Amino acid sequence: MAKFVFLGDLKLTDKSVRVGSKLQKIVSDAHYVIANLEGPVTQQDKPRADKKGVALKNGLGIRRLIDDLAINVLLLGNNHIYDFGEDGLLDTLSFCESRNISCAGAQSKSHDGSDIVRLEEAKVAIFSYAHQEGPVSRGRGNGYGPYALPKLQDIINQINELKSLDYLVIVVYHGGEEYFNFPWPRRMGWCRRLIDSGANLVIGTHSHSVQPVYQVAPGHYIASGLGNTYFEDSCQSNNIHARDSIALEFDSDSGRLAIHRIKADFEKCDVDIINDVSQPIDFSMFNQYFYQNWSKESRQYITGSLNRGSKRAARGEWWKRFIRPSHILFHFIRRIGFKKNRNIRDIDILLCSLPIFGKFYSKKIYAEGQNEFSF
Ligand SMILES: [Fe+2]
Repeated sequence: MAKFVFLGDLKLTDKSVRVGSKLQKIVSDAHYVIANLEGPVTQQDKPRADKKGVALKNGLGIRRLIDDLAINVLLLGNNHIYDFGEDGLLDTLSFCESRNISCAGAQSKSHDGSDIVRLEEAKVAIFSYAHQEGPVSRGRGNGYGPYALPKLQDIINQINELKSLDYLVIVVYHGGEEYFNFPWPRRMGWCRRLIDSGANLVIGTHSHSVQPVYQVAPGHYIASGLGNTYFEDSCQSNNIHARDSIALEFDSDSGRLAIHRIKADFEKCDVDIINDVSQPIDFSMFNQYFYQNWSKESRQYITGSLNRGSKRAARGEWWKRFIRPSHILFHFIRRIGFKKNRNIRDIDILLCSLPIFGKFYSKKIYAEGQNEFSF
């Protein structure tokens, strides 16, 4: 039996980051410290030729942070791990090997990978998958890059198989609604089915925001968004939550889980726990506020006011405040209207944003869940 600490997304520049004493204490008490590595650890200059959008990699700072946080499991199943191609991923795999770090979630062309880290001593299996949004993901055993999230039934079959071998099962998926403080109800329905199938923890990364942690039953939890443990990059400069995250402290013996709130400071280059430990929310409370909040955030998303804090226009650019909401609304409607880019989540967000109806519709799509995340 063992103690685990789960951290969120990591993306560092070359700067060294200091770990505060409170955070140091909880990681030193743990047998396994696990984090999502958002982008390869590499000195390669050029992103892979077909890379679209921002390419992320970890600079020299990650080395010290991994040592100071005593991270011994890195999850590579995310949308940036293959941004610097085969060479970037191979650099990352040798980095993990040189530090004796277990990893999973991505495969290279020349080496077989795995979508599961098996910690045999603790009898724990941790899945690492990237959601399928865009061309970064590859199917299982189907090439290279991050492992794509399989269909629900395929994951359930794997959970059943591991449970029959007496493993404690943890599913970590990299995907989710960026900057939302509540996950898409279909995603919650999906998480719930995994828990009902026997998974002990279902954990989400990638949202760049902290989302609620629920206890569904003793020893069974859903934490859909851990946030950015330390994510210093220009692509996060407009995110008011970029410095916030939670660490989950999980005892596989007692099944207890504790939550620690973490704050990163990019000016001082440090990261630490900022307040007292808190407990997960009992799932019986879920109905009381989830749908209402999701519906409200859907509305804010469409008008552009979700996560708007640091995006406020400068004084001399007051006109942007008026133009921005209509600009966002226009693009959102364009996404919904043109079939090529249309996805089920956008349509759900639109319907959930409607007053009164939105709350009931949110409830309906939670009950329906989702079979796969491919859009
Ligand atoms: Fe991501």
